[in-house]
Amino acid sequence: MISRNTIDKVFETARVEEVIGEFVNLKKAGSNFKGLSPFSDERSPSFMVSPVKQIWKDFSSGKGGNAITFLMEHEHYSYPEAIRYLAKKYNIEIEETEQTDEQKEQADARESLFLVSEYARDYFQKILHENPQGKAIGLTYFKERGFTDETIKKFELGYALDEWEAFTKNALKKGYELDFLEATGLTIVKQTDELSKIKKFDRFKGRVLFPIHSMSGRVLGFGGRILTKNKNAAKYLNSPESEIYHKSNVLYGIYFAKQSIAKEDNCYLVEGYTDVISFHQSGIENVVSSSGTALTKEQIRLIHRLTNNVTMLFDGDAAGIRASIRGIDLLLEQGLNVKVVLFPEGEDPDSFSKKVTPAELKDYIENEAKDFINFKVTLLLKDAENDPVKKAGLIRDIVISISKIPDRIQREVYIKECSRILDISETVLFSELAQIAKKELRDASKKTSFNRASSPVLQKTPEFKKVDELHKYEREIIKILLLYGNSKVQFEGYVPGEEVDDNEVKSLKKYHFENVVSKEIYLNLQEDEVEFTDALFQQIYYEIIHQLNQDESISVDTFINNQDSKIANLVTNILMDDEKYVLSDWKRKKVFPKSKTDDLPKMVLDAIYNLRRVLIEQKIKSLISEIDKENENAQILETVVNYTNLKQKLFERLNRVI
Ligand code: CTP
Ligand code: MN
Repeated sequence: MISRNTIDKVFETARVEEVIGEFVNLKKAGSNFKGLSPFSDERSPSFMVSPVKQIWKDFSSGKGGNAITFLMEHEHYSYPEAIRYLAKKYNIEIEETEQTDEQKEQADARESLFLVSEYARDYFQKILHENPQGKAIGLTYFKERGFTDETIKKFELGYALDEWEAFTKNALKKGYELDFLEATGLTIVKQTDELSKIKKFDRFKGRVLFPIHSMSGRVLGFGGRILTKNKNAAKYLNSPESEIYHKSNVLYGIYFAKQSIAKEDNCYLVEGYTDVISFHQSGIENVVSSSGTALTKEQIRLIHRLTNNVTMLFDGDAAGIRASIRGIDLLLEQGLNVKVVLFPEGEDPDSFSKKVTPAELKDYIENEAKDFINFKVTLLLKDAENDPVKKAGLIRDIVISISKIPDRIQREVYIKECSRILDISETVLFSELAQIAKKELRDASKKTSFNRASSPVLQKTPEFKKVDELHKYEREIIKILLLYGNSKVQFEGYVPGEEVDDNEVKSLKKYHFENVVSKEIYLNLQEDEVEFTDALFQQIYYEIIHQLNQDESISVDTFINNQDSKIANLVTNILMDDEKYVLSDWKRKKVFPKSKTDDLPKMVLDAIYNLRRVLIEQKIKSLISEIDKENENAQILETVVNYTNLKQKLFERLNRVI
């Protein structure tokens, strides 16, 4: 673990404009910098960096945060990876916290597996490019497949000599331990008949090698393709499961694709190593492969971090399609939008991409991409056309797929679409959907931990949210606390304790008092026992109060730099609210947003009164709904009257301060 000390130092040293400046061309705009959003293709800048606040905001995608978040969003680093990157950039020595011996050993072992794998990658690459046998066999093979030198280097392709121990011997000589060679599967160790004698040999002997990278580019394992036509040997041999290689957690090509997937907001999914590589060579980089197996939840999660959209690319021969179709429900379940492209008979993405120009390839994919549900219906319908029993099964099958989609509106659109294609009434399809939901409900309630959220169909239809006043004022209060919480200002109050009836509010005597903004807000909210309805606001508010109690001041940095990205993002958004004006060049258009600090006391009181007003309005509403005709309602009515009066007073105060 990186020590707190190091993390603090990184935060103190890193300048957001310097960090981002390496990836985005920034131009000065007032006290800020602006540039073209690195998260979307745009012509006019909507990306803003504030050196003063040390945050950035991308108005086109809504993303924002500090230097660390930028690296996590843009480079897809994990938090520690981002810290390490910055430490390196600013020459900060990384201090690791003390680990237990066991932790240390485990971390060391993992690291050793990476080091062995990365050594092997370098070694196999060297053989491919420099060894006569490597060049004659391995390199020639790749060249014959149409891979350019650039491509071969980019994917770090290699070759393992066709000898039993060439690699193992070399690695041992370099000081790599046999244990780690065995654990990564690079070396296979076998006990011989003779006691205490072992035999070692190279797993990948005689194969060309495709290193498999993690999201951040470390080598996890290898895929090795055989070059001979040996019917008894598998075409591809892959690294076995190890501490660092979990087949179900990796996607081939993700490291080379992540940037492009995020930018294109779409991920192409292909079957094999060579499909991925050929696509890159044709200029399509947002492509990954699940290496011939059905997609797993973990793999989908990797994609989902980058985009909501997946396009599956299938070979022209239909054999694989029906098998893969099942895996697609898993994608739908995770809320991804799935499209499908079918290549012409006998072509896979690899072969097809070599037959056509890059432009033709792009056109083909764009034109052929079909919505998944639509695709499935059309495909299965062919099998079932003249068979009513089969057709009934097909309908069920399709509706099950639709039931996996979390979004209700989308589900409805699909039902309508299917009704059209299958020529079946929507009512029938909807009732089928309802039945599946009911069955799920039954199945789920059999289990002890019944969870509504697990079934999209069962979720309550989300209430249509009107622009929520309460949310607006809660946000306003949080914003004031963050921006001006530490300022001391003159408030205008009314002499308390004076008996006045409702019509005489105006006769109250004004008086002035000084207070810190945050304390004034705190006192008011506490008096009314106000709780924020928004959980995130409430969390931020508690933290603010905690800071006030501890240090008598609010530190905005703790929120911007919060490890909870939800908090960091929200606070960044709030702080960047006003920067939009700079982007749209309002100054030039001679529109000056009024400086907020001009009337801080009024702003504070307005926010508090408005929040109170909305809460009272809600209270009145709920009281009125309690009234029923049968019973004595005098008491409720009286309360309603009282609240209404209170509301009236608040309105008057609001008018007065406005
Ligand atoms: N695969 C595997 N083991 C096998 C066969 C296939 O792991 N015995 C995986 C590989 O990741 C391979 C993918 O499944 O890339 C797709 O298989 P296939 O279409 O047979 O291979 P291609 O990638 O098309 O390889 P090539 O074009 O070299 O035949
Ligand atoms: Mn192929």
